Amino acid sequence: MEHKKMKAFPSNFLWGSASAAYQIEGGYKQDGKGPSVWDVYTKIPGTTFKGTNGDIAVDHYNRYQEDVKLMAEQGLKAYRFSIAWSRIFPEGRGQVNEAGLAFYDKLIDTLLKYNIEPVITVYHWDVPQALMDAYGAWESREIIDDFNHYCKTIFKRYGDRVKYWVTLNEQNIFIGLGYRSGVHPPGVKDLKRMYQANHIANLANAKAIVSFREIVKDGKIGPSFAYSPVYPYDSDPENVLAAENAEELNAHWWMDVYAWGEYPEVSWRYLQDQGLAPEMEAGDLELLKQARPDFMGLNYYQTGTIKHNPLDGVGEAKMNTTGKKGTSKESGVPGLFKNVQNPYLRTTDWDWTIDPRGLRIALRRIANRYRLPVLITENGLGAFDTLEDGDIVNDDYRIDFLEAHIKEIQGAISDGVSVIGYCTWSFTDLLSWLNGYQKRYGFVYVNRDEEGPKDLRRIKKKSYYWYQEVIKANDLVDRTRS
Ligand code: BG6
Repeated sequence: MEHKKMKAFPSNFLWGSASAAYQIEGGYKQDGKGPSVWDVYTKIPGTTFKGTNGDIAVDHYNRYQEDVKLMAEQGLKAYRFSIAWSRIFPEGRGQVNEAGLAFYDKLIDTLLKYNIEPVITVYHWDVPQALMDAYGAWESREIIDDFNHYCKTIFKRYGDRVKYWVTLNEQNIFIGLGYRSGVHPPGVKDLKRMYQANHIANLANAKAIVSFREIVKDGKIGPSFAYSPVYPYDSDPENVLAAENAEELNAHWWMDVYAWGEYPEVSWRYLQDQGLAPEMEAGDLELLKQARPDFMGLNYYQTGTIKHNPLDGVGEAKMNTTGKKGTSKESGVPGLFKNVQNPYLRTTDWDWTIDPRGLRIALRRIANRYRLPVLITENGLGAFDTLEDGDIVNDDYRIDFLEAHIKEIQGAISDGVSVIGYCTWSFTDLLSWLNGYQKRYGFVYVNRDEEGPKDLRRIKKKSYYWYQEVIKANDLVDRTRS
């Protein structure tokens, strides 16, 4: 759609930024925190880029006051962060750790002091190791009650002050990378186990939402989904059908359940034929149907382009975790689809497509299909940054990236999509799970690298000042004037 005049951003639009506990906090054993699967997994040789881990990360646990002050100075309206389950319950269940609860009290209160809306992610991939040891974490239905108990504990503790909540961050990614490609914990490659663990995660998500409704009556809650909309490579119906396969199996498989409590029909039959459909128990569907969220959280980074993939075609391929452009390979699901390069799109150094218009498409597809408002819970550019003399980081490429995406958000709002806010990924630089510290996302540069934490100095990048202007204007700013 083209508009003669774009609609303005709503006056209460949440201009925000985001992070996740394991990627920033450090303090991995501090104040009674128990180990999470990531504390253990990153110590296994060969799992992460140059053996990096989040033991120290960017030490946000000890520097949160400085970090929040930087957010306040930038004018941030919202800050999305996650709670480390094993800070609250070091063993995943049982004894609660008051010191862990107190840390997030302090963080929330500091944010509120500066009028920054806290957005809490309940789970950003760091399941307590004790639950992995006890029953295989997401593979056992036991986790549903343990997760619910953890959620109820934090809903009760923080629900008076925190009104926006995200349940599971990117269930499709932590389950897919954990059980399909086996590059995240628990490092398993087994599709049957993957679809079963995913179903259990759906139930846990639903039960937590049902509990939330009882405890935080005036709050809003939703999952955040990593949605990469796909396009057919061309108008060849073979490729169009392949793109439909990808959209159904990679996106509807999750979002239909969140929004309607139902799995999509064709994908369900396909998985049943393959012997991969999850096992349902009495009451499962009823629970899923009770948990319609208030919004769909959208983590948007890129789009995919799809071609037909025969039964003997390509499967999983290695990801680019080094930043050496062009090192990722074609991947797909034999008999369904494969991902190919899009001739119209540039890519990042990690081979992710750069596609601002894809964000508008994602927003519209979600709004049309699910009739839910969208909170953009992540969007950003992972790039190599250079720290220049005088503590300067000229990240114009990041400004270009974010500006182009914000334009498309405004386009989607003008098209009629209800967008609650925009959380960039990320506020400070942080640990990029498999890619070390060199893949930087923040507005604030943190002086550390793969070799060590150096002095962990915080340095405002050029993009920090640019976003400050955008927030102040509640609109994009004319960069030729700055
Ligand atoms: C999302 C995650 O997948 O994308 C973040 O929610 C992550 O935790 C971000 O850091 C970027 O991915 P990556 O692999 O570049 O760190």
